[in-house]
Amino acid sequence: MKIIAYGIRNDELPFLREWENNNPDVEVKVETELLDSTTVLEAEGFDGVVAYQQKPYTKEILDKLGEFNIRYLSLRNVGTDNIDVEAVSKNNITVTNVPAYSPNAIAELAITQIMRLLRNTKRFETKQRNGDLRWAPEIGEELHTKTVGIFGTGRIGRVLLDICRGFGAKVIAYDPFRNPELEKQGIYVDTPDDLFKKADIISLHVPAVKENEHMVNEKTLSEMKDGSYIINAARGTLIDTDALIKALDSGKMAGVALDTYEGEVGVFNEDFPYFSAIPDEKLKNLMERDNVLVSPHIAFYTKTAVQNMVEFSMDANRDLIKTGNSDKVVKF
Ligand code: NAD
Ligand code: COI
Repeated sequence: MKIIAYGIRNDELPFLREWENNNPDVEVKVETELLDSTTVLEAEGFDGVVAYQQKPYTKEILDKLGEFNIRYLSLRNVGTDNIDVEAVSKNNITVTNVPAYSPNAIAELAITQIMRLLRNTKRFETKQRNGDLRWAPEIGEELHTKTVGIFGTGRIGRVLLDICRGFGAKVIAYDPFRNPELEKQGIYVDTPDDLFKKADIISLHVPAVKENEHMVNEKTLSEMKDGSYIINAARGTLIDTDALIKALDSGKMAGVALDTYEGEVGVFNEDFPYFSAIPDEKLKNLMERDNVLVSPHIAFYTKTAVQNMVEFSMDANRDLIKTGNSDKVVKF
């Protein structure tokens, strides 16, 4: 059995080597480059492909896999929004993802950013670099006095919900597909608008499907309380960036934390020689604000999560090749 793994980073390699040791019957080829229309040519002769990337899995790539008779593609991450679904089906490719490599990793980054915003840590750090160690005017706020609105009570949303409860915050939620346990606890509001109106802090945890595109927009932002906060560690397309910048300009928003951003592909996880070389004016505008925290899609990036991403995706690809099935098959 032969698997080719694309886009393998140095931090993933030890986990991949460990997996190989535990699976001596599988031959693994490590490719450090991402899967694209050129590197796909290396997949010829392999039984399965393991990959992680935010770049699109295009028709061209998927047609080539089909031509090579490769029917198994295993992603090392959760999101499947960058896959050409038609080409997957046309080429009879089965896709797996890793739906729960560590929901805690993302929820913990979300709570970190919530606390940083409430306690104005970015402003304090900037002042301190200039020798200013005074308190005022950066007086903070306490989470237990706030209502947190969780948009999406899936794996990650539910962990954040528990964490916020641990801090003593009031938690409300919206999800079009309600969790029965949470339903019993009466935490759901009836409409997205109710969540925007009632929460002091909104944290987004829904997929980047068409109906959620720009769900945070001029209208929804205007419904939010003055001085509220938004956290997006889900997907960049959920927020209309222009509308967000306007809401920050007007003072409507007290703070924003973005771990995902609509223009992030080709920008996040890249090294630019200096700040002004970042090729996205809106992103720089956001990054320069003292009440906006931008992190370059790092919520997932913990040792626990990365180890699970490698192990679970390799297991899934091996299972597909062996049995034609896996418990991680994505239903598009
Ligand atoms: P999940 O599938 O467990 O939960 C998603 C929730 O969104 C579900 O409860 C679902 O009912 C709800 N939902 C709302 N609108 C929906 C719609 N139109 N269609 C389907 N479901 C809808 O997902 P999760 O693992 O909790 O992930 C949440 C988000 O976090 C996703 O966007 C995912 O891509 C993103 N994510 C980000 C990172 C990161 O590093 N920042 C890492 C992993 C996942
Ligand atoms: C996902 O798993 O969907 C993520 O968003 C994390 C990815 C950048 C590795």
